[in-house]
Amino acid sequence: MQEVRIRLKPLDKQISVTRGTPLIDVLHEFGVEFPCGGKGICGKCKVKLLQGDIRINPAHKKKLEELGLSDKWRLACMSVAESDLDLEVGQYEAMIQADDSPFAFEPGSGFGIAVDLGTTTLIAQLVDLKTARVLAVETALNPQRRWGSDLISRIESALNGNGPELTLMIRREIGRMLQDLMTGKEIEIERIALVGNTVMHHLFAGLDLRPLAFYPFESNDIGIKHFTPAELGWSLACKSICFYPSIGSFVGSDILAGIYATGMWKRSEYTVLVDLGTNGEIVAGNRNKLLCASTAAGPAFEGAKISMGMLATTGAISSVKAEKEGIECRVIGHVAATGICGSGLMDAVAVFLDKGLLGTFGEILSGDASLTLTETVKLTAGDIQEFLLAKAAINAGISILLRKLGIGWKDISRVYIAGAFGNYINLESMTRLSMMSFPVERFRKLGNSALIGAKMFLFTEEGTAESIRSRTSHVNLESESDFQDIFIERITLDPPSS
Ligand code: FES
Repeated sequence: MQEVRIRLKPLDKQISVTRGTPLIDVLHEFGVEFPCGGKGICGKCKVKLLQGDIRINPAHKKKLEELGLSDKWRLACMSVAESDLDLEVGQYEAMIQADDSPFAFEPGSGFGIAVDLGTTTLIAQLVDLKTARVLAVETALNPQRRWGSDLISRIESALNGNGPELTLMIRREIGRMLQDLMTGKEIEIERIALVGNTVMHHLFAGLDLRPLAFYPFESNDIGIKHFTPAELGWSLACKSICFYPSIGSFVGSDILAGIYATGMWKRSEYTVLVDLGTNGEIVAGNRNKLLCASTAAGPAFEGAKISMGMLATTGAISSVKAEKEGIECRVIGHVAATGICGSGLMDAVAVFLDKGLLGTFGEILSGDASLTLTETVKLTAGDIQEFLLAKAAINAGISILLRKLGIGWKDISRVYIAGAFGNYINLESMTRLSMMSFPVERFRKLGNSALIGAKMFLFTEEGTAESIRSRTSHVNLESESDFQDIFIERITLDPPSS
């Protein structure tokens, strides 16, 4: 019997199967989930066809169209391996949030594209400007990752002479995504709205990154940037392509879009927005005044600096529950645990605290070097310390912004949690650990607020974004005299009440 080879990205796994094997028979082992049992209803088993060919019947084609997926995608439950294939398995999308939340809008005409240009992931949505309906979605990993996963490595790489290549690479990748969005559609694009952090803004626009690399870390070129398709090397026609302005050197238009999406900029009551992405940005205020800051909280929640930390993908412990005897861990993809992601980390600390295994400073009371989660995954004393530093940074950051607004925690009527990690977070664990001292009922999970805001920008005059930006001030937490004191005070845990 003839064999074919299937390569799975980004897992870097290769398998051989008999020609004609249904993908559903082999992919579940690699974390692809089949929630509707392979009936072709839910669309959750989608895989991206990077190379090779998978034949598609009319029912399969119709389903992909309904899901707004381009012809690069296949539903694994409706696919058969007939030739060598390279597939990107959709479970990686746990961290790519393509949002479909409804929002209020003034109907326009034509079509627009919203792009969330993230440090790790890229998302583009084609939107009907009459109905605000999302017609197609494209997601990809940022190709600049080969120069490092964080902003500092990208800056260093640009300063080492790779800036033009980083610019070319991101423009080319987004251009490719836009082409894929438009494939098979006879439409003209009116507007393209791009949002992202300030480093992404500078790299996309081809600006000098040195001001962001050296003291006082201030760039004077953070405003709105307009482009023509020709300047970007894109072959599509579009009347307006705009990268929205940053609020400050370390708070980009992704957060500006988040502020717009929450509506906090026009409410009289006070609101807090916390984006638990790589940088852990916080915004607080109301229609009169908005303050924002970035903290160093993100990396711990994304798995960096945690001994067995990982992103929320297959094999990650995503939640931990206390049982009478021991604990129960939920693992993404229902496979053996290979690590722990941010939401699992927070749950684990809360559970171990309530079981009386941790002291006030997060120390393991038994004196052991680690606590066991599963046969293979442990949480070390160092991991618990990293978590405490991250939660203290968020708590102290909010405290400073509220003090500067002249209000207290109780004056906040709504708290929006955005970002991939925010989506999976257990609010009970978060409040138990005093990461944010708000009652649970005030929280709203917002999903990808940058993408929602970018879509909303497609329906709005550019002046609105400028006006939100002009009333938002950036606070450098490190230069606030009381930040260190509050931060150190919050690196603690409240013991369980007896
Ligand atoms: S498993 Fe639901 S569409 Fe494939």
